[in-house]
Amino acid sequence: MTPASSDDLDGLREATPAAPTLSVAAQTVQQLGGEGSLLVRQRRDHAVLEGLLQAVDRTQGEQQDEALTRLGRLVFPHAYAEETVVWPVLRAVLPDGNALTERNEQEHQDINELWTQLETTPTGAPARAELLERISTLLRQDARDEEDVLLPRLQAALTHEQLRRLGRAWGLVRRTAPTRPHALVSRRPPGNLLSGLPLAALDRSRDALDRTSRATPTLAVACSGTSRALALLAGAIEHLPPLKQGERPSTHLGRTDAAS
Ligand SMILES: [Fe+2]
Ligand SMILES: [Fe+2]
Repeated sequence: MTPASSDDLDGLREATPAAPTLSVAAQTVQQLGGEGSLLVRQRRDHAVLEGLLQAVDRTQGEQQDEALTRLGRLVFPHAYAEETVVWPVLRAVLPDGNALTERNEQEHQDINELWTQLETTPTGAPARAELLERISTLLRQDARDEEDVLLPRLQAALTHEQLRRLGRAWGLVRRTAPTRPHALVSRRPPGNLLSGLPLAALDRSRDALDRTSRATPTLAVACSGTSRALALLAGAIEHLPPLKQGERPSTHLGRTDAAS
């Protein structure tokens, strides 16, 4: 979860910008830098995302809860690794990188806030369908913005080798990142970097408990109770001031419409 060192960034700045501004969706694996490239890994995850969104759409009850757990385990680590590893590089190599990444971080923040609401909305409540619809729309929009705008801009600034190195770093962080929404935490380092380890441990424990609860009815009460206790602990950790370091007003929970 360590951000790129200044030496790494100097190396990136020296990269000769290439031409492509074509959407990542329209390019071959070779054009994108090979199998390990960040762009190929991103596109692959976005395709899995689409499949999981459709699974959430066609299921109900416990099956939908399971599909949502799988969706969260894809979406939140994916976004966390973008915020901590990829967007800092994009800001370092592009003059308009700050504005570009801030818009994407706002989308991530909106998804975190809506999903937090979803977690406290009972199954069958009318508001649940609307929340799911808004989350799905935002997730698809986020993937499109990245494949059509942010990632092609990054591609134009980095070499294939640099894209593969960035892909490895993003993939490593993604494997150990939080799997649930944390709307109070900064969407930028250093706050989100500091939050990663404790929140990932709690989130992944809750995922396991919730799955056990669904699969083994005799353990449901005990597992649900422990999961709720871990959720309270995660909520308390989110309030720690160091985890807000680096936060922009536009991604602050409770921001005004004007600020966002
Ligand atoms: Fe992405
Ligand atoms: Fe994203």
